[in-house]
Amino acid sequence: MAEKPSYYITTPIYYVNAAPHLGTAYSTIMADVQARFRRSMGYDVRFLTGMDEHGQKVAEAAAAHGMTPQEWCDSQAPLFQDLWAELEISNDDFIRTTEDRQRAAVQYLWERMRESGYLYKGSYDGWYCVPDETFFTDTQVAKANEGHEGDPLCPDCHRPLERIKEESWFFKLSAFQDRLLALYDEHPEFVQPSFRMNEVRSFVAGGLNDLSVSRNTFDWGIPVPFDEGHVTYVWFDALLNYMTAVGYGVETPEAQAELARRWPAQAHIVGKDIIRFHCVIWPAMLMAIGEALPEHVFAHGFLMVRNEETGQGEKMSKSRGNAIAPREVIDLLGVEGYRYYFMTDVVPGSDGAISFARMRQVYNADLANSWGNLISRSLNMSAKYFDGAAPARPDDLAAFANPLAEIAEGLVDRYAEKMGAFAFGEAAAAAMELIHTANHYIEDAEPWSLAKDPARADELAFVIYNLLEAIRISAHLLAPFMPATSAEALRRISCADEAGADDLAAVCTWGGLVGGMPVEKGEALFPRIAEE
Ligand code: MSP
Repeated sequence: MAEKPSYYITTPIYYVNAAPHLGTAYSTIMADVQARFRRSMGYDVRFLTGMDEHGQKVAEAAAAHGMTPQEWCDSQAPLFQDLWAELEISNDDFIRTTEDRQRAAVQYLWERMRESGYLYKGSYDGWYCVPDETFFTDTQVAKANEGHEGDPLCPDCHRPLERIKEESWFFKLSAFQDRLLALYDEHPEFVQPSFRMNEVRSFVAGGLNDLSVSRNTFDWGIPVPFDEGHVTYVWFDALLNYMTAVGYGVETPEAQAELARRWPAQAHIVGKDIIRFHCVIWPAMLMAIGEALPEHVFAHGFLMVRNEETGQGEKMSKSRGNAIAPREVIDLLGVEGYRYYFMTDVVPGSDGAISFARMRQVYNADLANSWGNLISRSLNMSAKYFDGAAPARPDDLAAFANPLAEIAEGLVDRYAEKMGAFAFGEAAAAAMELIHTANHYIEDAEPWSLAKDPARADELAFVIYNLLEAIRISAHLLAPFMPATSAEALRRISCADEAGADDLAAVCTWGGLVGGMPVEKGEALFPRIAEE
């Protein structure tokens, strides 16, 4: 059998300045849904997430808690790892930038950078935003602060800046302007959604400043191997994690083979706030050291919450202290409802306002009343009319009108195209079409009337078979969003061994249900939530 193609997908690695919140979980779930979908399409997926543990922000958070930075990071790691496990995140690896493998890879990077000629020593005199771990020039700050009185604020996040003046190593980012513009022209798919490309392009077209990539006024970072007292700028360290995890800088044949197989990554999932790091700095770093560029950077929008003082929506963030804990949503919707809601109701790429009322509404409409209802009614009828089993597969799958088979025709292709493009809401809507049609089909076909008429036994078997078949296919399509309930739905119709299949198109072919197997009614998979 031919080797499966590799699909390497990553999330941002999260700062450990506070516990994870809905916003950070959002990036991770998005990557997980894509990873699960790709596995179902026969890819050999490598899915990486992790923690960004160095830098001033984390050092300050540790100090505020009276711990050393390492103690602080170690105390936070389980919060992230446990939450990802609970949210059914199927990552293959979890990287922490304080691990030895990252230190070795970053130090290897420094040597390659030095050889490349794109590194020089200088001194930095400018602004620094600690919450964003970003440098800003006087010009950028002056422009963004026009009309603003008092201490200058960060052009991006509008929080106070620090003035720093220190000796620093610089990466000659300015030398990459033309190559970056050529990249965007030749590979418009590099930045997704495509509307984000303008922002990236105009930033680069406006001219690039060289980037300060070491700090020497604090020590929480990876030491620069050839300059004592300097530690790596946190983003220079963090971006490399994507390559560290697949063997960069390790010279064993195994690591080299892994790197050759996995790199370049197919997709980096990031929030729109960190798009410049991923679409400008990261490709320039890779160009400098002669490594291949990732295929796609997918930037999602922000989850917003209302600021009661200003009445404005603002980005939910740990540093702003307006973050909603995932626990609140898990308690309301369950893990599967949580995943489904954020992946289908917030348009990937755009900002989305958070509302508990909307969460209830979507959950009840799509999951309780539609998907859950289809499962419980169909399994109930099958068990009742066919003695705890599914009817046998009809000899002729077109013996009667079959709106479900019609909808199912071509459905996987439509769905797969949307999933592959991160249009998760549209992909789920395709699955929902089958579910809605199936619920209408129950009303139209009235199996309870057919059951009363022995002369129509074939028709009854046909209808129930179709309903179970619609459930089987829908469970596969919804599995990347809701893996556990999909697996449970499949189990109840004796198709447990299909869960986790890696040939979606084949497994979703109409008529795949063997028929005659035991069917278990079970408890409601999505109990209705009271709407307030
Ligand atoms: N450590 C860097 C990333 C380094 S990647 C080499 C970082 N960390 S973060 O913890 O601040 O944020 C990580 C991700 O969470 C970003 O993609 C960010 O956009 C996302 N989110 C943080 N708050 C968010 C919302 N309110 N809404 C949606 N996602 C947001 O940046």
